[in-house]
Amino acid sequence: MKVTKSIFGKAVNDTVSSYTLSNSRMSVKIIEYGARVAELLYDDVSVVCGFDTIEGYLKDNDYHGSIVGRYANRIYKGKFSIDGREYNVSNNEAGRYHLHGGYCGFSGKLWKLENLGCDDDRAYVTLKYVSPDNEEGFPGTLAVYVTYTLTLADELKIDYVAVSDKDTIINLTNHSYFNLSGVGNTILDHMLTMYCDQYIPVDQKLIPFGYFANVTGTPFDFRTAKAIGRDIDADDIQIKTAGGYDHCFTRDRGENKDSPLLIATISSPVTDITMDILTTEGGIQMYTGNFMTADNPFFSNCPQRKNQAVALECNRIPDSPNHAAFPSCVYRAGEKYTQTTIYRFKR
Ligand code: BGC
Repeated sequence: MKVTKSIFGKAVNDTVSSYTLSNSRMSVKIIEYGARVAELLYDDVSVVCGFDTIEGYLKDNDYHGSIVGRYANRIYKGKFSIDGREYNVSNNEAGRYHLHGGYCGFSGKLWKLENLGCDDDRAYVTLKYVSPDNEEGFPGTLAVYVTYTLTLADELKIDYVAVSDKDTIINLTNHSYFNLSGVGNTILDHMLTMYCDQYIPVDQKLIPFGYFANVTGTPFDFRTAKAIGRDIDADDIQIKTAGGYDHCFTRDRGENKDSPLLIATISSPVTDITMDILTTEGGIQMYTGNFMTADNPFFSNCPQRKNQAVALECNRIPDSPNHAAFPSCVYRAGEKYTQTTIYRFKR
């Protein structure tokens, strides 16, 4: 196993380094800007969308490959309360809702190298970001550590640890967009299994109503493998609202696990590459690139197109601070937030 360091470019007035973790079949390039997965090659197939240069990432508004936080996904009107005290965080979506950490969330920060290394079984890099008290309106100084580990078993493991010095809310995820046929192809033919009995219906602004819906008999039933495109144009109010899939799927009503469990499996009929996703999180946001139309080409000038990739983001349920039915994402001062998510490749 190997880890190499290079210079990727410049951002936030500083040098951005990249760290490439590799084994004989797989290589993963992590950059300090947004702690992003900037490239993932499996058997030389490029399976995560990204950009050739730092300029592509600086122009990007879709969180490509990044760590998202302090609160991933949406918060209604950017408002929530902890013990009766109301907080207002940035409403960076249409000036009305909070999305993915605010105007400049963790995806737009320059993370610092904390640790890196390799041995016979793994190569890893740990990046750190300290989010100041009141950044984007969130209470408490939050220290966040993310470790990307590539294993001999072709797994990319992401371990998150975060601690705040005041009571706060935390919901972190990785926002990689996958295409197992290789960047540039469609994902509508990918076969997907989601080990999730329920999903979270949303309103016109993609904010949860606050209840769980059973997937049985709906386009959201992926409990046995089904092509992503099979029901993506179904005459279903939730599909129409999002213009495809842009929903959180849950198992055990969104409860977290102590150790990572299989939550989804996806495979490409073109390359036969399969990816298992295991996580300690109780939810997984599936976003089928419904708004993927930006004029910001991926690698080798490949244009962005709708449904060209799928993000499968392991996280808490969106807007959970405002819905009693959803597991809490409040972390007390000094309480440790952890998450482990594994993307395991095979062919
Ligand atoms: C959200 C989408 C959003 C996308 C890019 C996804 O996680 O669910 O609604 O458009 O991120 O911002």
